[in-house]
Formats: sequence, structure tokens, C-alpha cells
Amino acid sequence: MKEISGDIKYVGVNDHDIDLFEGQYVVPRGMAYNSYLVKDEKTLVFDTVDARFGEEWLANIKSEVGDAQVDYLVVQHMEPDHSANVELFAERYPNATIVASAQAFVMMKNFFGTDFSDRRIVVKEGDTLSTGRHVFTFVAAPMVHWPEVVVTYDAADKVLFSADGFGKFGANDVVDPEGWDCEARRYYIGIVGKYGPQTQALLKKAAGLDIRTICPLHGPVLSTPEEIAHAVAQYDTWSSYSVESPGVCIAYTSVYGHTKAAVAKLKEMLLAKGCPKVAVSDLARDDQPEAVEDAFRYGRLVLATTTYNMDIFPWMRHFIDHLVERNYQNRRVGLIENGSWAPNAAKVMKGMFEKSKGLTFCDTVVTIKSALGAESEAKLAQLADEILKD
Ligand code: FEO
Repeated sequence: MKEISGDIKYVGVNDHDIDLFEGQYVVPRGMAYNSYLVKDEKTLVFDTVDARFGEEWLANIKSEVGDAQVDYLVVQHMEPDHSANVELFAERYPNATIVASAQAFVMMKNFFGTDFSDRRIVVKEGDTLSTGRHVFTFVAAPMVHWPEVVVTYDAADKVLFSADGFGKFGANDVVDPEGWDCEARRYYIGIVGKYGPQTQALLKKAAGLDIRTICPLHGPVLSTPEEIAHAVAQYDTWSSYSVESPGVCIAYTSVYGHTKAAVAKLKEMLLAKGCPKVAVSDLARDDQPEAVEDAFRYGRLVLATTTYNMDIFPWMRHFIDHLVERNYQNRRVGLIENGSWAPNAAKVMKGMFEKSKGLTFCDTVVTIKSALGAESEAKLAQLADEILKD
């Protein structure tokens, strides 16, 4: 993926050493920090890379420009996975001008102690910058994923430099057997999921552009009409909180296996009733961002947990917090609680969604007193019917 177009080159890096991306996401196939170089009458670079890869990135640039100077560094996003090497770049290319939004320069002052006031161009929505053949138009994309973000459209080659938008977990030098969707979804829902309306606003702006290539700051470049149409459609679904796939997500915690047994029984009932997919997550053991992703992917969610200190099991609290803070909405929700002497978990779980919009809770609440019995199993069958209702 060295060459994006005749004079746009890939100069990003792959990270296989990272333990947790953004301090919380496991990335078993590594991570890519993308950067692009435009060789025109003037030379321009889009974004830097993570702190640990500064020299590798500068070497990539040097392999394209040799000892020549770079004229511009565009900083579309100030999160350190992209901006950590702005100062290093500024030292190495002392004649370069730094191009970013006003808010990005405020963040540079906070991060680096300088806002490059003697060598900068402040850009806002609709501003343009020409490097010769290329004319770049800056498009504000606040909260996709931070407030200072701009994305950039190149009218010459019809390229959208989309910052975090359309990004994906995974390095670019390994093949993801699951394709684009799975890790792009986990990335979007986990990282940008709270900002659906802002992503919708960006999609509306992008709809007015003739885009032949999308160059995100993570993951592969999208370069065929099919890839672009699919990614845009997926972003529209995710950012409008629409249901992507038919099926039920079940998220549970279980201390001694009894709640787990009820979940297994429910899964069996749902499949027997024709449910096309039941995605089950053990919140103590499985990847939580995968479970969060599934909750948003499917239109129906069942939560099953134990009563614990008259509250709920900690992993379930953590999970519901993740849903609520990402504006979880427009879904049907069923609740299963377990409690050996004073079951209270369903009430606590429902209470946590008090401010959420568009959730329909099933009337049937399954209460398990220690272990599944005839009465609770009958309730489980009732819940299976209710969660599948149209
Ligand atoms: Fe890839 Fe919001 O940083």
C-alpha cells in the first residue's frame, strides 16, 4: 500500500508491540498509525504517528523525499496516536508549516508547550490549501473523534483523508481473516460510538463529495467503489444507532455457573424459535468491547447477572456503563437476575438505563433463585418469545 495515487504515498507504520490501544482495547492483530505524503510542487504530510515510531516514520518520509524539505504537516487530529511526533517533525523539518484547526493549536500548546505561532496556518471549515496540482479542502469533523478534528478532501485525486473515521483495529501488514467489518465496528462503537449525531453530520458533508479513495488514520485505505459504499453504509447504520444484523446479544456474568446455565438454555430456546443468531458474551472472561459491539449490532439484548452486595456483579455494571455512555438506544432489552435470598439485579440493571432513549424492556423478568427450576425455566421460555417479538 505504498502508493495511494501517483503522488500520494503511504508513510505510516505498523505496531505489533502495543498491549492496549488507547489504554483499554486489546488489538491481537496490532495497530496501524497511518500517515500520507503528497509529492507535488510543495510537499505535504498528513499526520504523524505514535510516539514509539517517530524515527521509523521519519525514515519513511525520507525514503520518499531524500534530503529535500517537507513544506507542510497537516495535523488533522491531536490524539497522541497521531500527533506525538509533531515536535520531532518540526525540528527535523525547520522550514515546514504546521496546518491545523485553531483548537488543535491550543492542544499543541498544552501537549508541547508551543503552538508554532511563527510557522503555522490555522484552517477552518471550507478553507483550502494548494500544493500545486492538489487543492486540499478542510472539513470540520468535531467529535469524530475529538473536537479539533478536521478531515481533508483532495479534489485532484478525489481522496478523502478521514482522520479516525473509517479506521479499524489491526496492523496493515497482516491479513484480517474477518475482513473489514468486525474490527472496524469494534473500533467505531468503542471509540466514536457516543458521537453518532456528529458522525452523521460528517457523512452528510461527505455525501456531497466525489470520493474515489478514503485514507483513514488507522487500517487499510479504501479504494474501490464497493469498499467505499460498504464502509459509508456501515457508518450510517452504526452512527444512527440502527440495527445492523438480525439476532440477539446475550451478555452475562455467572459466579458458580447457574446463571451461565440459564443463558445456555435461553440460547437453545431462541435458536429453536428460529432466531438467526445468538451472540453470547461472558462479561468476566470475554472481551468487553466485543460484547459492546454485539449489543449495538443486534436489535435485541438480554442481560443476565447475579445480585451482589444488593447491587449487580461488577462486570455487568461496567458493561452497562459502557452502553449508556455510548447512548445505547432503540433496542429491546430482556433481564435475567439471580439471587439466593434477595434477588435485586433486574431492578438495578433497569435503573442504570433510566436516561437511555428508545429502549423497550420486556415485561417478563426471569428471576432465578440460585439455580434454574421449573418456574424460572417457564419464565425463560416466556422471555424468549417476548425478546423475539417484532
Ligand atoms: Fe486514532 Fe482518536 O485517535
